[in-house]
Amino acid sequence: VSLERFLTPENARTVVRAWQREGLTVGFVPTMGALHEGHLSLLRACATECDRAVLSIYVNPTQFGPNEDLEAYPRRLDEDCELAERAGANAVFCPTDKLMYPSGYATFVDQTGMTEVLEGLHRPGHFRGVLTVVCKLLNCVPAECAYFGQKDFQQTVVIRRMVADLNMGVEVRVQPTVREPDGLAMSSRNDYLDADQRRDALCLWRALQNVKKRYAAGENAAAAARQAMREVLAQVPQASPDYVDIVDCDTLERVDELTERAVAVLAVRLGGTRLIDNLPMAGDLPPGRAKN
Ligand code: PAF
Repeated sequence: VSLERFLTPENARTVVRAWQREGLTVGFVPTMGALHEGHLSLLRACATECDRAVLSIYVNPTQFGPNEDLEAYPRRLDEDCELAERAGANAVFCPTDKLMYPSGYATFVDQTGMTEVLEGLHRPGHFRGVLTVVCKLLNCVPAECAYFGQKDFQQTVVIRRMVADLNMGVEVRVQPTVREPDGLAMSSRNDYLDADQRRDALCLWRALQNVKKRYAAGENAAAAARQAMREVLAQVPQASPDYVDIVDCDTLERVDELTERAVAVLAVRLGGTRLIDNLPMAGDLPPGRAKN
C-alpha cells in the first residue's frame, strides 16, 4: 500500500501545509476506522472534490462512556488502509493515545445546549469527547474542508456549531447516509449484531420510513408521527429505544409539525448493541446542507 502514513501531528501538519503552499486543496475525513461503505463514500467525495484526501483513523477514548464499547470497538488498521487507498485517499493520520492525550492533558471543548439533548442525554460527555478530538484532528490536519456522514446527524450539527463558534474556518461537508439494500444504515457497530438482531435492527428503518410516508401524505402532526414510530419499534420486543423524536435540522428542538426542516431521529438498543439512525423529511441532505 503506497498510502502515506502520518504518525505524528507535526508530520501531518507539515505535509498538509506543504501541499497547500503548492496550491493544492486538502480535504479531511475523520474516522474511527473499521471502514465501511459509509466511510468510503465520504472518502470518494473528498478525493473527487479536493486535490488531496486525508483520513484519520483513531478510536478516540474521550468520546466513550465508562460502560461503553471502547475495548470492543473493531480495529483493523491494515485492511482500512487498503480500502482507503482504493477509495482515493492520499494519506492517513493514525495517532496513538499517548500522542493525542499525553500525560498532563487538560483541555476540552465544551458546547452547551445542543450537546445536551438526544445522544447527549444518553451518552453524557460523548460530544465533549467528539468536539475535543475533532478540534484537535483539524489542528493536526488543517484541511480546507472536512467530511462527515449524515448518519451521525447530531454530531454534524454540533460540529458545525463548534466550527462557527471557534472561527475554525474549515468547511463542513455532510454526505448522505449509506444503507444496506434492506435499509439498515451502515455502521461499524453493525458488526456486533447476530443474525436475529440483524433482522430486528430493521425496525429503525421501518420507524423512520413511517414518518416519511406520513409527511409525503401531508399528515403533519409530529406528535402522532412520534407515537407511530414508537409503535413500529414496539413490534420488536427485543428493541429497547433510548429515544425517538422529530427535531429541527438546525436547532435540534422538538418540532410540532412535520415540515422540510424536520428530521426523525432515534437510538435503539438491541441486546448489548446501540444503534442510531435518522431521516430528514427534506431528503438525504436537509435544506442548506447540500455540499458545494
Ligand atoms: O464519527 C466518528 O467516527 C467520530 O465521532 C469522529 C468524528 C471520527 C470523532 O472521533
